Amino acid sequence: MKVIKLATELRRISAKHRQLAFVPTMGALHRGHASLVDLAQAHGRTTLVSIFVNPTQFSPDEDFDRYPRTLEADLDLLRDKGVDYVFAPGPKELYLADHQTEVFNNRLSTELCGMTRRNHFRGVLTIVLKLLNLCRPRYLVLGKKDYQQLVVIKKMIADFCLDIEVIAAEIVREDDGLAISTRNSYLNAEQRQQASIIYRALQEARQRYIDESPKFGDNCRDLLDELVHNCEYRINNHGLLLVEYAELRDRATLEKIKLRRGAILLVAVQIDKLRLIDNVELYPELIASDDKN
Ligand code: PAF
Repeated sequence: MKVIKLATELRRISAKHRQLAFVPTMGALHRGHASLVDLAQAHGRTTLVSIFVNPTQFSPDEDFDRYPRTLEADLDLLRDKGVDYVFAPGPKELYLADHQTEVFNNRLSTELCGMTRRNHFRGVLTIVLKLLNLCRPRYLVLGKKDYQQLVVIKKMIADFCLDIEVIAAEIVREDDGLAISTRNSYLNAEQRQQASIIYRALQEARQRYIDESPKFGDNCRDLLDELVHNCEYRINNHGLLLVEYAELRDRATLEKIKLRRGAILLVAVQIDKLRLIDNVELYPELIASDDKN
């Protein structure tokens, strides 16, 4: 495994690999990242992982300074998995001192997680576009836990005519269902125990959807409203947790659902000063017409 530090070197090496599968990360790698690497290896001939804690996607009151940095352990994990290249640039390598240009999604950057993390997706899109331009991959592998991130990046790739196939990896969960995330390490024992309600509430909503939506046929709008409401209520009535949003959206575009397409139920939950996100996709596909949207 070769570790690349310089952007120019990344560009030179990547140019030699036509079937490159790329996994962008901020390090502190866990089982979720390992599953992204597995998918990358299943698709590409060469696998590249980047490790860069991107300052522009954190607002000043967020955890940029204390975000875990575990480069040596990360490199061990990636070496064990047989990754070909790791791009681990220094903090100044990717932003020129006079950096001025940013990527912004005019609709999705300010919705859902963007309501409270105003500049987050601008920072994500900007760094991901830089990385894609440097390594020109055939495949880009992203996780479904950060579902909004997945959708805004896919949209950027389509809008900017990039010839890259996005591969979406399923959420990897702890035994009690909590979606694995680097920030779970910030939870104390009580918070960690309470956080497991998030997935239980999402699962309940999904199960009721599977059981009851066929009975409602064309009129499942009320059922959907009730599912979202119950999910929010279950989480909010669990001690420390406070739902920031619980929303049902179109799975492909994250638009407010028209009830003709696949749906996804997304939540963001505050637990003291921490923030957790999770989601479940709802099957079967919604087929009813919707006159309230
Ligand atoms: O999901 C992440 O780890 C980051 O948002 C990403 C995509 C690596 C961009 O910094």
